[in-house]
Amino acid sequence: MDGKVIAIFNAKGGVGKTASATCLADALRERGEHVLLLDMDQQHNSTDLYGAEIEGRMSTYDLLTESGVDASEGVQSTESGDIVPGDVLIRRVDQDMDKITLGRETMLRDALAKVEGAYDRIVLDCPPTIGNAALNIFMAADRVIVPMNASGEGLSALSETLEFIGKVESNPRYNPGLEVVGVLVTLYIPGRRVSKAYDEQLPEIAERFGTRVLDTRIRFCTKYPEATTRQMTLFRYDPDCIAAQDYRAVAEEIVSKGLI
Ligand SMILES: Nc1ncnc2c1ncn2[C@@H]1O[C@H](COP(=O)(O)OP(=O)(O)OP(=O)(O)O)[C@@H](O)[C@H]1O
Ligand SMILES: [Mg+2]
Repeated sequence: MDGKVIAIFNAKGGVGKTASATCLADALRERGEHVLLLDMDQQHNSTDLYGAEIEGRMSTYDLLTESGVDASEGVQSTESGDIVPGDVLIRRVDQDMDKITLGRETMLRDALAKVEGAYDRIVLDCPPTIGNAALNIFMAADRVIVPMNASGEGLSALSETLEFIGKVESNPRYNPGLEVVGVLVTLYIPGRRVSKAYDEQLPEIAERFGTRVLDTRIRFCTKYPEATTRQMTLFRYDPDCIAAQDYRAVAEEIVSKGLI
């Protein structure tokens, strides 16, 4: 599959990365795909939603910091699907990766090499920071989806994110195959006016970096925080709620337009 490894990334926190990674993984599973979720975040929110274990288990921290690791050894099969868990240790990944002398930027890509064949799709729930982990993510990914809160804050973080991705994809030594699928508007409340600056600037920023704002917007849905409180994915808690419908629509949009 062309866009096998999909990173859900934005340098800003709280924009719906975890919601988008977990729900998109489920929407793709409903379409019959075999999907692996990778929790790349120290907050390990998607790991908790999957009820996966962290203590004493291989995590994405190990994939980033230990040479020769095979990610398939870290896969946990849960009721919600397959996942490699996140870990609080990821908070010190920058400092720990400084000690790696060879292949520091491709640690994740190398760790995924053996597991890739076993899945149709690998979805990455990413941390809200640009650093060594992010560089590894973009070296390993084929596609990036950038969630963006409809409230309109975070336009500068969006530019920073797209600029960084642009540097990775424009450098033949890095990852020329990397493509931004688009900006995905999340936490959208129909009828509520988003700021004019946001409305006008969002497509402009996306276009400046050679990408687009996806047509589908993810509506604000009270079921999402409810599901989180119960430590369940949204698709298990309420598969018919509006946000779940929207994530199915995004999956349809990006597959039918050939974006992944
Ligand atoms: N469609 C939605 N409707 C309502 N609330 C949502 C929706 N999507 C996400 N949320 C809520 O918005 C907040 C941010 O979402 P989420 O955790 O997915 O963002 P994030 O980008 O992963 O954050 P972080 O950078 O901290 O990892 C959370 O409190 C979550 O419960
Ligand atoms: Mg998150």
